[in-house]
Amino acid sequence: MNQFDMDHLNKAHDGITGLLGADGGGSAESLLLALAYIVASVLFILSLRGLSSQETSSRGNLYGIVGMAIAILATLTATQIVSYGYLVPVLLVGGGIGAWMAARVAMTAMPELVALLHSFVGAAAVLVGMASYLGGGAHGSRGIWLGEIWIAVMIGAITFTGSVIAFLKLRGTLGGKPLLLPARHFLNLAMVVGCIALAWPFSDAPGTDGIAWLLVMAGIASVLGVHLVMAIGGADMPVVVSLLNSYSGWTAAAAGFMLGNDLLIVTGALVGSSGAILSYIMCRAMNRSIWNVVFGGFGTGDSKPPPPPADGVAPGEIGEASVESTVAELRQAKSVVIVPGYGMAVGRAQHAVRTMTEKLQANGATVRFAIHPVAGRLPGHMNVLLAEANIPYDIVLEMDEINDDLPETDLVLVIGANDIVNPGAQTDTSSAIYGMPVLEVWKAGSVVLMKRSRRTGYAGVDNPLFYMPVTKLLYGDAKDSVEAINAAF
Ligand code: TAP
Repeated sequence: MNQFDMDHLNKAHDGITGLLGADGGGSAESLLLALAYIVASVLFILSLRGLSSQETSSRGNLYGIVGMAIAILATLTATQIVSYGYLVPVLLVGGGIGAWMAARVAMTAMPELVALLHSFVGAAAVLVGMASYLGGGAHGSRGIWLGEIWIAVMIGAITFTGSVIAFLKLRGTLGGKPLLLPARHFLNLAMVVGCIALAWPFSDAPGTDGIAWLLVMAGIASVLGVHLVMAIGGADMPVVVSLLNSYSGWTAAAAGFMLGNDLLIVTGALVGSSGAILSYIMCRAMNRSIWNVVFGGFGTGDSKPPPPPADGVAPGEIGEASVESTVAELRQAKSVVIVPGYGMAVGRAQHAVRTMTEKLQANGATVRFAIHPVAGRLPGHMNVLLAEANIPYDIVLEMDEINDDLPETDLVLVIGANDIVNPGAQTDTSSAIYGMPVLEVWKAGSVVLMKRSRRTGYAGVDNPLFYMPVTKLLYGDAKDSVEAINAAF
């Protein structure tokens, strides 16, 4: 065996002993702990895979629950645990509060709950980082360990305060308007540079003397988290929550390195990368860059009347529909496509929509749902609402699956959607949503748009669909309109 092979063998051995614990897996206990962590990691990966489609999402959740239960039980049996007297009551109280919150949360309040949970991850990383530093539990090189503490505390503090602001904005406690201070990019840069520069005196301080530097840096990073998220419009909060989700994962991974815990590293990396991928998918579906979301100050969450046309020519007449005319069209239609949007969520119309679907099917029509990737205000928003109303998955189709069928569709019912059916996204180069893929509902035989007024949607742009001969507006709250249709059908 040559030197090259020997080096590789040694490296492989180091890798395995690292995974099995610091003592090389010598004791049965650390071997069991390593095995439990491997099983939990695999379950987390299976959970993410399961959550990627509606049919398998319950199974995905189950894998996640079992994985987390194994991880907690395995960690509880580890020898480093000092006092069960503290741990067990804390676990019971925390678990109880979590279960109570999850059972009570309304589907529309999910993003704010997620934001709040991310803030806990950030706060935990800051506290664990400081406790590790004061406890002096370095494993391996002190320099690397101090670096791990610094990174975990910095990202943790940004995640903590950023998530709290996102929570308050989503709740409406703070206004949706972006706070755009003069020279805000410079301020952000100065704070990042400040945080990095303080790492030098911190790493030079002997023992635990660097705690003051760590506290000062955590303070600056906290202000940075507040400032970064305050500058983002309320309507962009879902993308920001997904981004903070990614930060919370990287924070957990940094804490995993700091504590020498492989499961925390794996789980943190899974959360960090899946959050980053989700943010990217959301931005791509809106045809915007992540930088445009983070630095754009776009979207206050307030809808406006349509802007005047650029050429000064008044837009065309808007056709109006009544409940009676819509019911008459529905009775005739052989194929109906329903496009749900943010207004369906606001009006909580999903259960009435299920009743309408059953009535239409009983009348012999083929009914399908067309889901745009960024319909509503959070990823999978419409899928979750339709699933809550027990609408079968097999009639719920993604935009790419249904767009080609729209020309052969008799009637499209657009329920509280606007931007996602805007033809200007394909034709108007000056539009804020130009280039965003949309549902081509105007190609269908007839379109009934249900909304309360002619106001714009999230992007604040006029919608030429309103003025097309194929379109009729049925004014009113989504739930009231659908219930009136159900009553008249
Ligand atoms: P929007 O373009 O926001 O349009 C929703 C429409 O619903 C509004 O024009 C509003 O008109 C109507 N509406 C509100 N409440 C209603 C009610 N109770 N009953 C009936 N209608 C009601 O929504 P969309 O078409 O779903 O598009 C989503 C937008 O959000 C896209 O621009 C997307 O980029 C953005 N966005 C999405 C996400 C994710 S991940 N889904 C994240 C961030 C941003 P009236 O006021 O006239 O009723």
